[in-house]
Amino acid sequence: MNFSFFSKAVAIDLGTANTVIFMDDKKVIDEPSIIAIDRLSGKVVAVGKKAKEMHEKESPNIRTIRPLKDGVIADFDAAESMIREFIKMANPKRSIFAPSYRMVVCIPSGSTEVEKRAVRDAAEHSGARDFQMIYEPMAAALGIGLNVTAPSGSMIVDIGGGTTEIAVISLGGIVADESIKVAGDTFTAEIQQYLRQQYNIRVGEISAELVKLEVGAAMSNLEDAPEPYVIIAPNVMTVHPVVSNISYQEIAHCLDKSISKIENSILSVLEHTPPELYGDIVKKGIFLTGGGAMLRGLAQRLSHKVNIEFHVAEDPLRAVARGTGVALKNPSYPFLMR
Ligand SMILES: Nc1ncnc2c1ncn2[C@@H]1O[C@H](COP(=O)(O)OP(=O)(O)OP(=O)(O)O)[C@@H](O)[C@H]1O
Ligand SMILES: [Mg+2]
Repeated sequence: MNFSFFSKAVAIDLGTANTVIFMDDKKVIDEPSIIAIDRLSGKVVAVGKKAKEMHEKESPNIRTIRPLKDGVIADFDAAESMIREFIKMANPKRSIFAPSYRMVVCIPSGSTEVEKRAVRDAAEHSGARDFQMIYEPMAAALGIGLNVTAPSGSMIVDIGGGTTEIAVISLGGIVADESIKVAGDTFTAEIQQYLRQQYNIRVGEISAELVKLEVGAAMSNLEDAPEPYVIIAPNVMTVHPVVSNISYQEIAHCLDKSISKIENSILSVLEHTPPELYGDIVKKGIFLTGGGAMLRGLAQRLSHKVNIEFHVAEDPLRAVARGTGVALKNPSYPFLMR
């Protein structure tokens, strides 16, 4: 059956931290992947930015949920409601016909069959009629304009909230890859733990993320160093307010182990890369996408460690979604899955 008359084309990057949706080439949603639910009625109170404002400030009546963890759906019902709400937000004019959607959703390259099925079911319950999936690093490569079907190797490192996806792409396929659960959320959790141990203060996830954005760094000798960041938080024992000055050097130190894990995975993928493609990668450099790519000094640190130039993609937070949009227009791409 042909649904094209009433159907819309939707590309969704269902990320652990952020959901980005393109509809017919236009970015229509760019919101945190959070939903707030009324505990009693189960009704959706808010999604996206509004729900993030309520996160960790929950009242007895409202519960906030991040439906994805480590790149995959952890709470199926919440994920489905969130997708449905976002599509509603993007499509405020409801027609008398129930709209049907041609949909492409991206998934981590390490997804299991069960995880793929969860995404497919959630999409179909939210109105998808014609549904395809694409691996995130492939979408990232398309999104930054690489020719993924060429007989030439390209390497992508996508550092999101939940996973870091590392992949070498050639001839429209992923030749070597690794997906690890060390990414932006890990950095945030590590900062939270560090502040507790070092300063004896208690900070929430949102505040720890803010510390990361203000003074997060991958190296302790930055050329363009940010000023120390002042945070006020309760002492763990006395509950008195404590004013702390956080420098980027200590955050670089605190994130060092996690970044080393990412470095090791990159080296391991390069080790499994065929030599002919390796040469292409050295020539082109390695492309960094995802929000984590913006951590200060990261590209420089990785370039130094791997001895290949790393480039931070333009608009790294939207690369995967944009590439998913490109795939939407080319349904016959061999790497799309149903
Ligand atoms: N300037 C920045 N410096 C460091 N980290 C940042 C910056 N901006 C955003 N981030 C982090 O990037 C992460 C979100 O990135 P992104 O939106 O690419 O993830 P996602 O696609 O939702 O997650 P995943 O792909 O793992 O499912 C968050 O952890 C956020 O804190
Ligand atoms: Mg992502």
